[in-house]
Order: sequence, then structure tokens, then C-alpha cells
Amino acid sequence: MTVLAASSLTKRYRRGDKPFAAVDNVSFEIGPAETLALAGPSGSGKSTIARLVLRLIEPDAGRVDFEGADFLALSGAALRARRARIQMVFQDPLAAFNPRATVARVLDDPLRIHGIATRAERPRRIAALLERVGLDAGLAARAIHEISGGQRQRVAIARAIATRPSLIVLDEAVSALDVSVRGQILELLLDLQRQERIAYLFISHDLGVIRAVAHRVVILDAGRITESGDARSVIANPQSAIGKALVAATPRLTRSRP
Ligand SMILES: Nc1ncnc2c1ncn2[C@@H]1O[C@H](COP(=O)(O)OP(=O)(O)OP(=O)(O)O)[C@@H](O)[C@H]1O
Ligand SMILES: [Mg+2]
Repeated sequence: MTVLAASSLTKRYRRGDKPFAAVDNVSFEIGPAETLALAGPSGSGKSTIARLVLRLIEPDAGRVDFEGADFLALSGAALRARRARIQMVFQDPLAAFNPRATVARVLDDPLRIHGIATRAERPRRIAALLERVGLDAGLAARAIHEISGGQRQRVAIARAIATRPSLIVLDEAVSALDVSVRGQILELLLDLQRQERIAYLFISHDLGVIRAVAHRVVILDAGRITESGDARSVIANPQSAIGKALVAATPRLTRSRP
């Protein structure tokens, strides 16, 4: 069983006059309740893959199968229904949401748009979502710009789970948080995955974070997969030059080595 299968995805852009493949023939699968990490240097194509999977941009070649359906072929009501099942969390929730919107408004949107709860039910659903991500229900009345970065990222996660997705794409979702808040958010993600069986496509440049949350890792280099496998094994014993360089650049991974 797979939740998401990306097959031979290719996305070309131009750099000056020269076309180049930002994503070059990339394939991977993610199963239910599984975390697949994408790692790789800046510009290796991680966010482009996220956008392709979310169908924010269209590939030049390849396909995306989501919950057994050809995701790129869907349109209209079928696409809207399937889109509710694949959610996203980005690095900066201040950029993703209207900073002046209340927390309640941010969480009300998906419930309303996808017809998940009636107007009368929604305040209770919003309170339950906030509690599910470890926030006080009283936070609902506050504006996005008034709450802390960690609280904002919890709101982003609450919004993502509002539609009961089978997959969440997280692009550097914990990168902007300080270490203690980061640890708490990673715990929350692990807990949600255990409880709700959500799969994660987890993008990070931090192999320490990837080792803590991912089952498998794909390492990208200039748009191509350079190596992939069990996250702990790959990080403990990288085979590719890029994999070795990424491990070497993450000091706390090697600190305990004899
Ligand atoms: N819309 C675009 N037009 C032209 N080039 C683009 C576009 N989007 C991305 N690129 C290029 O594609 C390549 C991959 O970019 P991408 O954002 O996917 O990298 P990334 O791995 O997410 O990097 P980072 O770790 O810095 O976030 C880069 O060379 C980038 O400049
Ligand atoms: Mg990126």
C-alpha cells in the first residue's frame, strides 16, 4: 500500500538562457504512517518536489499517484476532494497566513471550505484542534502575529490536520524554530503520526532532525537522487559524496564517534 508515489518526476527551469532540470527523473513512494525525508544542499530541488507533489506547479514529465489515483489527471470536484487529503506546513506560517487573521479564522477556513463541519459545530471543532496540537483553546481569539513562532507552527499543524489528511508535506517546517521548541514540535508530529497514521514528506537540510523523525531518506544532488534508504543507515554510513558532505556538515551526528 502506498499513499504517494512519485514516478520519474522532471521539472525544468531556465537559468539565463540555459534550460536545466531542477528536478530530474525523481521517483519515490511513501506508505501510510511513514515519514520519507528529502535532504540535499540548497538548490538541489527539495522545494520543487514539494510543489510538484502538492500540484502547485506541473511537471514536465512524470506522474504523481496519490491514494491510488492519478493526481495530475484530477480536476473539479474530484481534485478538490483529494486535495483535502494532502496538506502542507511550510517554514514560515507568518507568510502562509494573513498575520492579522485570528487563529480561529485560520482554522475555520478548511472546515468551511471542505464542508467538514457546520457553522454551529465549528467553534467546538476549532477548540478540539487547538487542544490536539497542545494549545489552549483560548488562543482562538488571538491574531496570528500576536502569538509566538512555536505557537504559530502548532496552528499551522492544526490547520493541516483539520481535513484529516493521509499525507502532510513539511518543507523546512522546524528550521526557523529554536532547539527546544523544535524538539516539542517534532514530538507533536510523531504523536500525530502514531495516532492518526499520517504520512509525512519531510523536507529538511538538517540530518539530525531527519534522523529523529524519518523512516527513510532520499538525498538529492542537483535535482537527482544520489542515494536513498533507511534514514539511520544512510546517515550512519553515507555512500555518496553529497551524503558524506551533509553528514560531515552536521557536527552533532559525528560527535559520539570514537
Ligand atoms: N520558479 C523558478 N524559476 C526558475 N528557477 C527556479 C524556480 N524555482 C526553483 N528554481 C531553481 O531550481 C533549483 C531548485 O530549487 P529548490 O527551491 O527546489 O531547491 P531547494 O532544495 O528547496 O533549496 P533550499 O534548501 O535552498 O530551500 C534551484 O536552482 C532554483 O534556483
Ligand atoms: Mg527549499
